[in-house]
Amino acid sequence: MNTFKKYMKGLGIFLMLLITGHTSSAQSETFNLSGEETTMIVISLVLVVMIVVLIVAFYLLSILRVMVREDGLRRAKEKGVPFVEEPGMWSKFYASLTDAVPIEQESTVELDHNYDGIRELDNHLPPWWTYMFYASIVFAVVYMFMYHISGSLPLQTEEYEIAMAKAQSNMKTAEAGSSIDESNIVFTDDPAVLNSGKIVYERNCIACHKAGGEGGIGPNLTDDYWLHGGSIQDVYNTIKNGVPDKGMIAWGDVLSPSKMNDVTSYIQTLRGTNPDNAKAPQGELYKEESIDSETSESEAAE
Ligand code: HEC
Repeated sequence: MNTFKKYMKGLGIFLMLLITGHTSSAQSETFNLSGEETTMIVISLVLVVMIVVLIVAFYLLSILRVMVREDGLRRAKEKGVPFVEEPGMWSKFYASLTDAVPIEQESTVELDHNYDGIRELDNHLPPWWTYMFYASIVFAVVYMFMYHISGSLPLQTEEYEIAMAKAQSNMKTAEAGSSIDESNIVFTDDPAVLNSGKIVYERNCIACHKAGGEGGIGPNLTDDYWLHGGSIQDVYNTIKNGVPDKGMIAWGDVLSPSKMNDVTSYIQTLRGTNPDNAKAPQGELYKEESIDSETSESEAAE
């Protein structure tokens, strides 16, 4: 009964793991886990399930062994012969790995020299060792071919050069990203940038500006009225430095310049989208300069 209780407890832990796994998949929507993170969670869950299944299998096997043993004991008693236990799976496996002659039969493999009581046995090479030896020969051939003949895998110096080149290009993109500020930011409709901006927006801004930018605690970002200026430079500046006493966080301490760049461009795409439940306009009307000059030009033409 005690073991039964123990295994019920194990089952409880297993169920708990399943439930926590479930909430983490729900979290992936709320907290925007990346695909990689979700994959990691799924893989670890599968691993946990595999381990549990293995434990259960071994437990069932051990029960089976005990039952077989008891049955053998009973039958030996009935027949009145001494009970000889079958070697277990592990000892059979071990014997097949070492292929050693049992100590009782040692004399059959003993060599005839004897140095001050040190005797030598002529055992076979242990199979585990022989197979490892063959495997290392195969490995050496494959290695030789891949690295030195076909050249399909990089040698140390090449690996070093590849790593250096990668670090160089990483540094370049990092430099390009960190040199962005309110003085040189420009709008881009590059889908990769806008998508990254959307992710930044969804992770950090939705709480106050709402999903469509219609505004909540923070102002409406889709209209043409701005408290702190509506040019892309002004918007970047507001995001970077915030309006701490009005509840807008200074994101410059939290987000990298390139992330702020992306979200600034993303916000530009929200303009004029007229989402439902839009908050009333606040601040001053801002018109794009280009639009202004276009209208004045067309007016002049008329
Ligand atoms: C904790 C709530 C909160 C969060 C989160 C928040 N904001 Fe704001 N935001 C505000 C408030 C409040 C204002 C208005 C400040 C004022 O009244 O001067 C504002 C103003 C702004 C403005 C200026 C609007 C205008 O009319 O000039 C921009 C742009 C802006 N936020 C962008 C963002 C971005 C981008 C994020 C996410 C990275 C973000 N906000 C996250 C509360 C927030």
